Amino acid sequence: MGEISQLHALPIVQRPPKTWTQTINTILFCVVFNIACLMINGFQFTVLLPLRLVPLSLVKHLYDEGIRYSKGSFGTLLVLMSQWFAPTNLVVSFETEGPGRFTEEEIQQLVVKDAAGRVVSLNLPRKAVMIANHQVYADWWYAWCLTYFMGTHRDVFIVLKKSLKWVPIVGWGMQFYNFIFLARSWASDRIYLSNRLSWLGRTAEKEDIPLTFILYPEGTLVSKDTRPVSKRFADKMGIPDMMHTLLPRSTGLHYSLRSLAPKLPTLELIDITMAYPGIPPFGYGQAYYTLRSIFCDRVPPPTVHMHIRKFNVSKEVPIGDISSTSSETLPNKSSKSVEVEIPDIEKDKFDVWLRDLWREKDQRMSLFLATSSLVEDPKREVKIPLALRRKREVLDAFAFFIPAFIGWVYSHLWAH
Ligand SMILES: *[C@@H]1O[C@H](CO)[C@@H](O)[C@H](O)[C@H]1NC(C)=O
Ligand SMILES: *[C@@H]1O[C@H](CO)[C@@H](O)[C@H](O)[C@H]1NC(C)=O
Repeated sequence: MGEISQLHALPIVQRPPKTWTQTINTILFCVVFNIACLMINGFQFTVLLPLRLVPLSLVKHLYDEGIRYSKGSFGTLLVLMSQWFAPTNLVVSFETEGPGRFTEEEIQQLVVKDAAGRVVSLNLPRKAVMIANHQVYADWWYAWCLTYFMGTHRDVFIVLKKSLKWVPIVGWGMQFYNFIFLARSWASDRIYLSNRLSWLGRTAEKEDIPLTFILYPEGTLVSKDTRPVSKRFADKMGIPDMMHTLLPRSTGLHYSLRSLAPKLPTLELIDITMAYPGIPPFGYGQAYYTLRSIFCDRVPPPTVHMHIRKFNVSKEVPIGDISSTSSETLPNKSSKSVEVEIPDIEKDKFDVWLRDLWREKDQRMSLFLATSSLVEDPKREVKIPLALRRKREVLDAFAFFIPAFIGWVYSHLWAH
């Protein structure tokens, strides 16, 4: 048992051959995960898609709520899969000193516990762009799990490669979720991204629903291939390279903030520093944690550390002058979004700001490698077992309630 619990600190290629328990875990994980995805996607195709054909605003609203529910189902499923097949704890801490800090008063109200002392929710900004460093593919999995506790897991948006758009089940589901598919050609992506985000921002504001747009400014994982690229870029710019993260690319984030901010006056930026135990200094995360090693082989990180900062976008983030795009109340739709070039001086200012943010992040990673904690005082850490709050939410993970209800309605309609 003790040996098993240390496996995460051993590179995947050096781990002992799989045991039969791991094989069973793999099979069960695949079966349950695929069934759930099929049920969620099936719900989207059979129940929601027909609704979309009805040109009534009430039905349109029902469709939108159904999509949010199905997205929440997927978020719930991610938590449940961790709970059943790769148990871990989120260890969350909040900035109290430097940039992006929470006030003492805010800290008091951040973590909501039930009578038994279990964390049931986190009062983090509900309309926000969420950024983080990127070491392993599982980063997005755990970020989405965090939104489950923030109560925004029905309203997560991410950017994906266009090639994923038509992958059966998962790709189709992602299209229902209104995720943003980019072709990786900035010239054409830019306007598309900007228009999509303006629309998402407008909708979130109008309907007063949350929005969590997740973005990884490094653009890719820290790996043996990307590390030298970051180094070369640093040398070209005459600045020091990062140690544990890659130099962030500011363009995508800058455009995103400038597209959303005019539509969402309360927009905030949530910055997460993510760290996993077991990855040695200058080691690469994917050598220790892949989605397969975590969920199939059942070797999860024992803890997933997240240090959180937040910034008021209009007040604390130098996104530049957006007054020309903020007039969304114009009767004509001429001023849609950021379709003009951002002036170089504003670009540079934002770039430097983001890089400084990343330097601080890099230092926090050093602190983590030395002390196993992202904060100086580990007493400030909040441990959240990654598990569903209520048993009946298991049904949500399979998008079960609504189909059952609608099935009941249909069967009664047909009976008459
Ligand atoms: C952000 O700052 C602006 C300007 O000071 C303020 O009006 C707004 O309420 C702040 N937003 C939040 C979410 O606190
Ligand atoms: C849109 O409306 C604004 C203000 O009403 C006006 O200044 C602008 O010229 C209009 N644009 C177009 C293309 O009609």
